[in-house]
Amino acid sequence: MITTYKAAPDIEVLTSPIPIPGFGLIPVNAFVLHGAEPVLVDTGAVIDREEFLAALRTVIDPADLRWIWLTHTDFDHIGSLSALLAENPQLRVITTFLGVGIMSLVDPLPMDRLNFVNPGETITVGDRTLTGLRPPAFDNPSTTGFVDERSGAFFSSDCFGALLQAVPDDAADLSDSDLREGQVFWATVDAPWLHKVDRATFARELDGIRRMEPTMVLSSHLPAARGMTDRLLASLEAAPGATPFTGPDQAALEQMLLEMAGGPSQ
Ligand SMILES: [Fe+2]
Ligand SMILES: [Fe+2]
Repeated sequence: MITTYKAAPDIEVLTSPIPIPGFGLIPVNAFVLHGAEPVLVDTGAVIDREEFLAALRTVIDPADLRWIWLTHTDFDHIGSLSALLAENPQLRVITTFLGVGIMSLVDPLPMDRLNFVNPGETITVGDRTLTGLRPPAFDNPSTTGFVDERSGAFFSSDCFGALLQAVPDDAADLSDSDLREGQVFWATVDAPWLHKVDRATFARELDGIRRMEPTMVLSSHLPAARGMTDRLLASLEAAPGATPFTGPDQAALEQMLLEMAGGPSQ
């Protein structure tokens, strides 16, 4: 079920807790930035397409949107992309060359309705200035987050996400251990290459985010996190040394199937 809340007076969150059987919940977030030229950041999961559009209509008339910032092209981010482009001919998509390339394999984007913003580049959308930034962890080469100069928020895409047992609207309501363990677990699932990074190099990259001093981190997979960037960075710094994730094996799958059929559990 998709619910909405405000992360700031002019920023709404649309969130859907997706169950990961045997593990917990991962929130899937999209964001609406109100302003002279409203921006939608990502478009929900493909499986939630109809519900996402209904939830979106409760926070903004899609006809008023001017931009979609596509942080990357994974199935939990592109759900309502083509439906919104069809509904609103004024909508433009902010993405990268790689984003367009990947979408061309599944649902090609209209080339005359694109703005490319690479990490480090800036775009002005009405009364907001957005600067592209590659987050320190990601699962897709098209990933481009951004900093919104007006709010000071860092939209970090998959980075800083957390596997949770319950999803509050405010990351500050999570206990230290739930936040840390949830974030570390998610990082090992979403970015397994983190186990191969040079720790010192990674720490310097995280320092870059610390020095940016975002007012809040708005991750695609974490409740809104205001004024707690140091905690988020400390969790992520621990991820390279954490236990690598290995998915359930065939015996576990067969046990799951047995339980789903109402059979005995071991
Ligand atoms: Fe992703
Ligand atoms: Fe994602």
